[in-house]
Amino acid sequence: MEKLTDDLVKYKDYVFAKDMVNAEHIDSLQTFEIRDSDIFLVTYPKSGTIWAQQIITSVCESEMGDIYPNNLEMMPWLEYIDKRPDYSLRPNPRLFASHLTPVLMPPGLRDKKAKMIYVMRNPKDNVTSYYHWCVNWAMFVTPKCFEDFLDQWLAGNVGASSWFDHIREWHSKRDQYNILFLTYEDMIMDLKTAVTKICRFLERDLTEADINKIVEKATFKNMKNDRKANYEFIPEDILKKGQFLRKGKIGEWKNMFTVAQSERFDQVYKERMKDMTLKFIWDMA
Ligand code: A3P
Repeated sequence: MEKLTDDLVKYKDYVFAKDMVNAEHIDSLQTFEIRDSDIFLVTYPKSGTIWAQQIITSVCESEMGDIYPNNLEMMPWLEYIDKRPDYSLRPNPRLFASHLTPVLMPPGLRDKKAKMIYVMRNPKDNVTSYYHWCVNWAMFVTPKCFEDFLDQWLAGNVGASSWFDHIREWHSKRDQYNILFLTYEDMIMDLKTAVTKICRFLERDLTEADINKIVEKATFKNMKNDRKANYEFIPEDILKKGQFLRKGKIGEWKNMFTVAQSERFDQVYKERMKDMTLKFIWDMA
C-alpha cells in the first residue's frame, strides 16, 4: 500500500483509511464467495450508509433473529479488518456494507443473484458531512479548514477516493449487478416510499404495519436514541458522540460553502458529470 498522508493509503487506485485495511484482505475479496441470498449496501462515505443500514437490518430482522448486539455486527463492513469474523460461517441472509468500487468487490456479485443497494447523496451535502467527520474521527488528520478539505475532496484525496468516480463506476456498470439506486434525498422526502422500495427490491413481503414500524425506527430522532443504530458504542476518544447522526438534513452545505466555493464546485461538477446519463434530484435545485 502506498502511503499518501499520515492517515491515508492508496491501493489499487483507491484511497483507504490507513488503519482499517490491509492489502491481503482487499486481495482476498477477489475470491470471496457470494451467496444468492447475500445483501450488500454500497455507498460513498457520508451518503446515509448507517441510515440505509438501519432500514435493511430492520427489514431482515425477523429472519436473522436478535443475535447481534448492533447494526455494525448485523451488517459488517466488508473491507475493514477490525474484529472480522469468518463470514463463511454466517447463516443466511448475510448483510454487508461497503464503500468499495466495483473492481475491488467480489466478482461473484456480477452473477446478479445477490442484491445490492447503492445510496447516493447531493455532493455538496456529502462534502459538508465528510468535513465534519474528518474533524471528529480520531483516525483522520484534522483538516486545516473547510477550503483545504474541499480541495482534497474534489481531487479524490480522501477515504474512498473521488465521489465522481464512485458514482460513475457504479452507475456505468449497473447492468452487471442486481442493484437498486436510491438517494439520501429520496429518503428525506418520503421515507415510507423509500422503505417500501427497499422491501420490494429485497423481495420481502412485509405488511403495512411492519413497514410503518421500520419507518418509525429509521427516523433521525429514533435512530439517535437507538443504541443498536447510533454507533455510540465507538469509544469517545475515536469519535465524539453524535457524529454519525449529526444534522440529518438536506441543504446543510449552504451554511458551509462560500459563494466562491459553491461556484467552483459547480464548475468541477459540470465538467466531471457532463457525460453522465443519470439526472440527479440535486441537479434540478
Ligand atoms: P450529516 O453529517 O449531514 O448530518 P454515513 O452513514 O454514510 O456516514 O452518513 C452519515 C450522514 O447520514 C450524516 O449526515 C447523518 O446525520 C445522516 N443520517 C444518518 N441517519 C439518518 C437519518 N435517520 N435521517 C437523516 N439523516 C441521517
